Amino acid sequence: MSVLVSGGAGYIGSHTAIKLHESGRDVVIADNFSNSSERIIPRLEKLSGCMVPYERADLCDKAAVERLFNKYSFDSIIHFAALKAVGESVANPIKYFNNNLISTLNLLTAMRETGVRNFVFSSSATVYGAPASVPITEDFPLRAVNPYGRTKLIIEDILRDLKASDVNFNAAILRYFNVVGTHPSGFIGEAPCGIPQNLFPCIAQVAVGKIESLPVYGNDYPTRDGTGVRDYIHVQDLADGHIAALDRLQAKGGLLTYNLGTGCGYTVFEVIDAYEKASGKSIPVEVMPRRPGDIAECFADASLAKLELGWQAKFSLDDMCRDSWKWQKNNPGGYE
Ligand code: NAD
Ligand code: WQD
Repeated sequence: MSVLVSGGAGYIGSHTAIKLHESGRDVVIADNFSNSSERIIPRLEKLSGCMVPYERADLCDKAAVERLFNKYSFDSIIHFAALKAVGESVANPIKYFNNNLISTLNLLTAMRETGVRNFVFSSSATVYGAPASVPITEDFPLRAVNPYGRTKLIIEDILRDLKASDVNFNAAILRYFNVVGTHPSGFIGEAPCGIPQNLFPCIAQVAVGKIESLPVYGNDYPTRDGTGVRDYIHVQDLADGHIAALDRLQAKGGLLTYNLGTGCGYTVFEVIDAYEKASGKSIPVEVMPRRPGDIAECFADASLAKLELGWQAKFSLDDMCRDSWKWQKNNPGGYE
């Protein structure tokens, strides 16, 4: 029996695939490589020391999903595959609803038809919209503020409805905060296609000389230095969170919902300072107006995951910057 890792060639899926292998599980990756490269596969094989089965498949193609479930025997699915660029989702909502919802429905249908019970879903802190206060606990009101976030919220609702309709169906909804860092080997990492929009990949590209300066979106927020505060979590910690959630799902079942964050918030300027220290490079900045849709502050209360899964983030902001820099300087062109 294997774990199907949808989107396993992507940033978080690839790191989790290695951890799954380390936990003794067989892994099958399915990806259409729309935001990743097939060149990651030999690197995953080198890191895991064995062949990594993978299928090039668009999960929106129902027949392709059926072929996948006929070819392999899965006991669990970890569903990372999705489009995730907030701005693009505002410009092209249909693309996001199609890709993120249809792929998920195809997987859930195939699971039902073949009796696979366990589903781990990549949700996001974006489902909290603009929270009334911080830290955020799992019972905060949910509100999508863009089409990308709406796809996450709709899928969460689908999973809650499925659990209500079928006691044997088990799901873990994992709400990630801001995922950064890379495998400590510097051999796999985040390789965004096109111009990066998120803070860490932008800083990394400034440090390596691909972008001249870092736009800082707003220095007039009601925070300690005026810039936005976020809960940055190392992708290795996040991957461990998936193993802990899957262990629990396989042992006890249920419908589980957890924040995966560190519980600490850092400002943009604090992240820049830490990255300069880790890389030895200076990061020139240009203060710009606030980015539409941004909120001042967002960080997790991650105590439920600690209580129920025994999981807690271990890596510091300095660790995240160190590993991100190692990947960036060794692979300035990503996997290409
Ligand atoms: P990513 O783009 O690196 O990985 C997603 C992978 O899914 C890519 O390899 C892409 O090619 C694949 N994919 C997309 N649509 C597909 C389809 N229809 N069929 C097959 N493969 C498809 O993104 P990531 O950062 O690794 O994110 C993984 C998941 O975590 C996503 O669901 C994302 O929404 C969620 N998430 C990410 C963050 C973050 O900070 N990166 C935060 C919260 C939630
Ligand atoms: C972090 C901070 C920016 C870039 C996004 C998604 C969210 C989730 C995680 C998937 C903010 C500031 C950024 C830059 C900057 N993804 N910033 N200059 O917006 O918190 O979350 O990724 O689910 O849904 O919205 O992350 O890294 O873009 O921004 O000043 O060039 O850095 O204003 O304060 P965000 P981010």
